[in-house]
Parts: sequence; structure tokens; C-alpha cells
Amino acid sequence: MAKTVTSLDAFKEDQSVRTVDTSRKLKVAIIGTGWIAGAHMAEYKKMPDVEIVAAADLIPGKAAGFMKAWELPEARCYLSCHELLEAEHDLDAVSVCTYNTQHAPCAIDALEHGVNVLLEKPFTVTLEEAAAVMRAEKKSGKILSIGFQPRFNPNMQMVKKIVQSGELGDIYYIQTGGGRRRGIPTPFGTTFIQKDTAGIGAMGDIGCYSLDMVLNAIGYPKPLTVTGFTSNHFGKSKEYWAAENKPESYVDLFGVDDFAGGFIRLEGGIMLDFRIAWAMNLDTSGDTIIMGTKASLRIPSTECWNGSIGGPMTIYHDVAGTSVGVSTTVPMLPNTREGEFYHKIRSFLDAIKTGGAAPVPSSQIIYNQAIIDGIVRSGVEGREIKVEIPEI
Ligand SMILES: NC(=O)c1ccc[n+]([C@@H]2O[C@H](COP(=O)([O-])OP(=O)(O)OC[C@H]3O[C@@H](n4cnc5c(N)ncnc54)[C@H](O)[C@@H]3O)[C@@H](O)[C@H]2O)c1
Repeated sequence: MAKTVTSLDAFKEDQSVRTVDTSRKLKVAIIGTGWIAGAHMAEYKKMPDVEIVAAADLIPGKAAGFMKAWELPEARCYLSCHELLEAEHDLDAVSVCTYNTQHAPCAIDALEHGVNVLLEKPFTVTLEEAAAVMRAEKKSGKILSIGFQPRFNPNMQMVKKIVQSGELGDIYYIQTGGGRRRGIPTPFGTTFIQKDTAGIGAMGDIGCYSLDMVLNAIGYPKPLTVTGFTSNHFGKSKEYWAAENKPESYVDLFGVDDFAGGFIRLEGGIMLDFRIAWAMNLDTSGDTIIMGTKASLRIPSTECWNGSIGGPMTIYHDVAGTSVGVSTTVPMLPNTREGEFYHKIRSFLDAIKTGGAAPVPSSQIIYNQAIIDGIVRSGVEGREIKVEIPEI
């Protein structure tokens, strides 16, 4: 029987100042050399204290082609994550850039080989998988950070600052999510829409970002219950794929959600109303709103994944005892010079070098995964699901 985790270290922010030894080179390998691997590589290449020594991909020749394109022909290439980990004995870190269903096996394998892991989002496909990764993390004592780059965007950080300042009072209701009118991702193939590779669809691709934005802002309270459902009306429509100039066979290949919604009861008396769409007959499914006892925050509809917000945020609040027409506009902040992808990777490497905490810890993101898992199960079972976090 699953037992509830009562203390998750994640909720302590690492405030200590640590010095990074930039002269020490870190040996890094890339697992899975698809689109996002390129985004990792672009940042690693900017860092003089990183040596990319190896890569693996299941598709013969893909890792070698990737390394050649990045002008690292001397890097060693392998045909699987496991093969690479068995052969490379002095790795400091891996970027796990595989499709979703291979997140858990590759992350566990790397941690069991004593290697620090930067794991792309979503954490995993199921809650059980996330717990299994965390058990390997705990046993290894290595760093596992999940690839949520919006955390490093100043606007996203402002959302958290506003909530944490107490300006809004006690939070009791949140609406978040979003999506696209048309936008099921198939630019480089079908790994995002097939059940065996993606496992989950819009929820794992973009929904997890919306959840992270608001859950991180309010301190990642534990989800208690989930009522949710998923649908696939667009992915299973011949007309949809015809309009996208894609093969009709995509209808049969499509095995995940293109829309998902849920009501989540969070610890602390907070209700979370969430929806996400890869495709819908609507321009936006709405702004993110965070309602509090002293004030509320509106974040204009956002894709979230790149840290962007759809416009200046607004705080609605009382002044001198009156609420008539009172609101404050929070101007949009410029991004950092390096951008959020750089900081997602740099913060992970700095944590390795300094022995610091994982910048985006699994013990927070397991709650994100628990919500996604709950929505899937609630949809299948047609009822509210009680969230049980497995023992780590
Ligand atoms: N952070 C972001 O902004 C962002 C953006 C896009 C994708 N992603 C995430 O990155 C992941 C990959 O996305 P993508 O677009 O690069 O997908 P992709 O399908 O293009 O690439 C994944 C690659 O991993 C390889 N692979 C799978 N299992 C493997 C294994 N066990 N060993 C070695 N190689 C393996 C596949 O052969 C494939 O080439 C997804 O989980 C996605 O959610 C994140």
C-alpha cells in the first residue's frame, strides 16, 4: 500500500552563497539527440568548463550526425543510453533528452551509474515512474534537476515574488492552463503523438509548464484530489491532419491527449482549475488568475514554455478600504542576457560543482506529475481520484 511522503526537502530553497570552480571541467553526455538536445548543446557550447564527451541515440547514425553538426566529431557515440553509461566511466552529468516514455528508464540508469542528471520535462509519464526515479536519486546521492527553463525567466520569477510577498493574502483559487487553436507538434516526426514514445500529449508537452508556474509561485502544496478528463477530438480527426498537410495515417498513430482539464484540491484549501489544449476551436482558453484574500493577480494568457507572458500582469486590490477600479499594472521585464535555457543548464552544473541543491528538485515536480497522473486516471475511471504519493 502506498504511503504518503511527509517531508520533502525540496521546499527549502538553497540560499547559501557558494563559489563555483570554473577551472574544473565537467564531462557531460547527451542521451537522445533530437530537437531539445540541440537546445542543450547550444548552451553547453557556451560554457568553457564543459566537455561534451559522448552521445547516444536509438536511431543508428543519429548521435554521430548530431555530434558532427555541432563540430564535435571526436565525441563517442552509442546506440542506447545503457550502452553509453556502461562504456563511459568518468561522466559528471548527462542531459536526458529522450521522448517522455524513456525519461524514467534513462534517468534511473544514469543515477544507478552514479551520474548527475538533467532530465527534460515532463518529469515522467506516470506518478509511479516519478517515484521510481526519486528512489534512484535518493540511493545515488546525485543531483537530479528537471528541465523547467521558465523558472529562470524574470517574469515567471516575478509571479512567484508577488505571491510570496504576501501582497495577495491567502490564495484560495487558481485558474491556469492555455494552449493553441491549432498546434499538435509534429515538426520532426511523430514521437510527441504516439503512446509508446510520448505516453501523454498536451499535458506533458505544455500543461506541465502552466502547472509549474502556479505551483512554484505558491510553494508547491501537495495535491489532495483530482477530478479530470482528457480528449483527443483533433488528433483523431482526418480533417485536422488534412488541413495540416500531414499523412492520414497520423489519425491511427495518435495515441495521447490533445486536450485535458482538471479540478485539483490542494493542501491549504486552494482550488486549482486547469486546462490545456494542443488544439481547440478557440483562440485562448483564458488568462491565469491567482485569487487571494487581499488581492488577485491576472497573468495574460501565455504559452509558458519559453517563460513568456502574454502582456503586463495586473494586481486587483483595495486601496484605503475601497476596491472601486483599483488595480496595479506590473510591467513586463526584459529577459536576462543569457536567457532561460542557459540558466537551466548552468544552475544544474553549478549545483554539481558546489554540492548545492537541485535547482528544480524532483520532490516538487512529483506533485506536478501527480496531478497529470490523476487527470489521466480520473478520466479513465470517471471519478475523483485521491492522490497518494508513493513512498520514496
Ligand atoms: N524544455 C523544452 O523547452 C522542451 C522543448 C521540446 C521538447 N522537450 C522535451 O524533450 C524531450 C525530447 O523532445 P524532442 O523534441 O527532442 O524529441 P525527439 O523525439 O525529437 O528526440 C528524442 C530522441 O531520443 C532518442 N531516444 C529515445 N530513447 C532513447 C534511449 N533510451 N537511448 C538513447 N536515445 C533515445 C530518440 O531516438 C530520439 O532521437 C521530450 O520529453 C520533450 O517533452 C522540452
